[in-house]
Amino acid sequence: LQVRARPAASTYPVHIGQGLAFKLRDLLGATLGGARVALISDDNVGRLYAEKVRDGIDAPVDLYDFPAGERSKSVPTWERLSARMLGDGHDRSSVVIALGGGVTGDLAGFVASTFMRGVPVVQVPSSLLAMVDASVGGKTGVNAEAGKNLIGAFHAPSAVVMDTTLLRTLPRPLMAEGLAEAIKHGAIRSRAHFDRVVGLASALLEADPNALGEVLPESVAIKAHVVSEDERESGVRSVLNFGHTLGHALERITDFAVPHGCAVALGMVAEARLGERLGVTEAGVADELAEALRACELPQEVPSDISLDDWVALTRGDKKSSAGRGRYVLLRRIGEVHPGENWLHEVPEADVAEVLEKG
Ligand SMILES: NC(=O)c1ccc[n+]([C@@H]2O[C@H](COP(=O)([O-])OP(=O)(O)OC[C@H]3O[C@@H](n4cnc5c(N)ncnc54)[C@H](O)[C@@H]3O)[C@@H](O)[C@H]2O)c1
Ligand SMILES: [Zn+2]
Repeated sequence: LQVRARPAASTYPVHIGQGLAFKLRDLLGATLGGARVALISDDNVGRLYAEKVRDGIDAPVDLYDFPAGERSKSVPTWERLSARMLGDGHDRSSVVIALGGGVTGDLAGFVASTFMRGVPVVQVPSSLLAMVDASVGGKTGVNAEAGKNLIGAFHAPSAVVMDTTLLRTLPRPLMAEGLAEAIKHGAIRSRAHFDRVVGLASALLEADPNALGEVLPESVAIKAHVVSEDERESGVRSVLNFGHTLGHALERITDFAVPHGCAVALGMVAEARLGERLGVTEAGVADELAEALRACELPQEVPSDISLDDWVALTRGDKKSSAGRGRYVLLRRIGEVHPGENWLHEVPEADVAEVLEKG
């Protein structure tokens, strides 16, 4: 007897363009097929766009929202949304549309993954971070007391629709945060992409649709390519964590006062310095990264009041680490990750501490 439980890597379209969110009927005809739709967004994005998005769908649509912010990415919000859908008579033929930033994508994706054991989800990201990163890859979930993203499921979307006009209302510091992940995609896989993001940085910060049109497809392609090689994160997918071992620890030590994109920006520079120190990363990469991130209006300095020892200690809590030594994704050069051992390098904490001290 053989049971083949693990599905092959998922395939789904990613549409990128202007105004797409308001004519979903043209893009999703087959996916929706007359199903009832649960359109989930946070209250900021809902107020701005939910009704207009609904008007572009030829199916009965119920609108659901929740208070904006990371705190809503929780079991209670998941429960509340699921209960409301049940109360409104949604069933296994319903489709969830996640309209919003990464919080909405993760939360609504998780609702979809568990509702009646799983209904399709369409991701309509509205923040740059959600476009370049969160909406592609199929990771969904909520936070637990013990840490971020600890309760969740892999639930690939049926389609992803990126409408760059939604970004006109995204505050500029959040555009910068999304650019940190776009820079990361270039740093790990493509020198040309890295240079393009840096060259277009000021237009991208303005949400210029032409600049976004030049950068988004490549960034999404890089993420999608890495994910398709390793959908369930056992190997090469960890290259996407470049900058994130120190970045996640910095977020936690500041109690998320340093937001994700900023923490990753600082983490990438520090991890490049670490790689240079170990002779793994070519000299000059850290300075070049720092310059690129400055062009994207990302911070250059860690808050002065944090304890570097505590920062290093917190990297131990990272799910990638083993005792006494942190595990890091290190670049060989811009555009290329050093293969290390299964893409990771075990680094003694003393080296990390010294790099952070020198800044
Ligand atoms: N699943 C993944 O692979 C993955 C990858 C990266 C990040 N994430 C998750 O994504 C989350 C962060 O995403 P985020 O930065 O988008 O956070 P977010 O969803 O909280 O959005 C940030 C803020 O921007 C607002 N906003 C979003 N789009 C807007 C628009 N078009 N106009 C005006 N305001 C808008 C939101 O209301 C919110 O206040 C984290 O929870 C992180 O864990 C998931
Ligand atoms: Zn990230």
